[in-house]
Amino acid sequence: MAQQIRSPRTLEGVITVPGDKSISHRALIFNAMATGKAHLSGLSTGSDVRSTIRCLRLLGTNIETIPGTNRVFIEGRKGCFDESRDILDCGNSGTTMRLMAGLVAGQPILSVLTGDESLRSRPMRRIAKPLEEMGATVIASNDGNLPPLVIKGGCLHGIEYTLPIASAQVKSSILLAGLKAEGPTVLHQPALSRDHTERMFESMGVSVRQEGMDLIVCPGNLHAVDITIPGDISSAAFWLVGAICHPNAEIRLNNVGVNPGRTGILEILERMGANILVTNERCEGGEPVADLIARSGSLDGVEIDGDLIPRVLDELPILALAASFAKGITIVKGAQELRKKESDRITTTVKQLSRLGVLIEERNDGFMIKGSGKLSGGQVSSGGDHRLAMCLGIAGLLSSDQITIEGDDAAVVSYPEFWEHLAVLSKD
Ligand code: S3P
Repeated sequence: MAQQIRSPRTLEGVITVPGDKSISHRALIFNAMATGKAHLSGLSTGSDVRSTIRCLRLLGTNIETIPGTNRVFIEGRKGCFDESRDILDCGNSGTTMRLMAGLVAGQPILSVLTGDESLRSRPMRRIAKPLEEMGATVIASNDGNLPPLVIKGGCLHGIEYTLPIASAQVKSSILLAGLKAEGPTVLHQPALSRDHTERMFESMGVSVRQEGMDLIVCPGNLHAVDITIPGDISSAAFWLVGAICHPNAEIRLNNVGVNPGRTGILEILERMGANILVTNERCEGGEPVADLIARSGSLDGVEIDGDLIPRVLDELPILALAASFAKGITIVKGAQELRKKESDRITTTVKQLSRLGVLIEERNDGFMIKGSGKLSGGQVSSGGDHRLAMCLGIAGLLSSDQITIEGDDAAVVSYPEFWEHLAVLSKD
């Protein structure tokens, strides 16, 4: 099946995007490790978070889903999990695999982790190496880099480790293992990445000390907490760009997480001249939350690089689309990590947007776009990557002719309601 999308006369309405995927994974995994029982609400409805639930259940965690809601009750395992009698299938989810690896590395059990074709081609040495240094045995294919991963954990000791890349997944994997290690674990970060793990650990009774760019965690026990998960800014980003680039649009996004590690997209769009109102700012469960209102506007090209990149990495494909509507040139540099995501997002973004007439040039570490303010119709493909599928859906709302998107079902990974929301917002 393919989606056929064309530009509506008006794009307007109020949307609540699904719960934040990063926070949902952590709320489940950390509460599974904890002592006590927790109620989680606003969980991401995407298939990635279902993968995490499936893996935790295989390790003996009791998770009661409440049908027809995005709420669950989860019973903590007090730091000790059962050995799974089956492989832990992480589906398409890099966060599930890397965080679960950190969790099982601290357990005296044997675990085998695998995933779909996309996940099986994503690098795992970045977690295998520090977890091995901590004392776990980690065996991976392709000379120790690719899933499946076989992990025999237990008897860990804290390490001092320099992260080669600013990655929240790698950081969180090591911090999780650090909870079960002997002695402190010290991480040197090259740049800041999203800090949901540090915030949630803190709210669950384990502090992660931050000294400049260093993080220090001591072994400890988490205590279950009820968590209300805010909407995912990475999902909201599609509607922000849709509204700004459509000539007749106003979209309100209620209850969006605005953790500073995630708001690169807001800062960049504002720097480009976008009209986004951030209102009703509040704090829920240790995470900043706000409502966002985006309206039609005009954009100027920008240069994006340096420490901003880890704060906007997941939004770069949709930002490339925004740049095609901006006046002048936009350059994205230092984003080579984008090649290691669910697809090689530099190549896939360039290839698919080129098909729609976007003047985009591939670079090793990013891309360059010359804004033209128009998109042609045509046939494009998500290549199985959820963020590409949704980026191309937004392109359909902005194009002069109909766009046909193959692989539209990939959106289910983070935002199963995306196509329904697109139809609700489109008004003729
Ligand atoms: C995530 C961290 C990011 C992001 C991914 C989710 C997380 O990856 O791209 O979608 O939940 O920790 P890295 O920080 O590993 O690059």
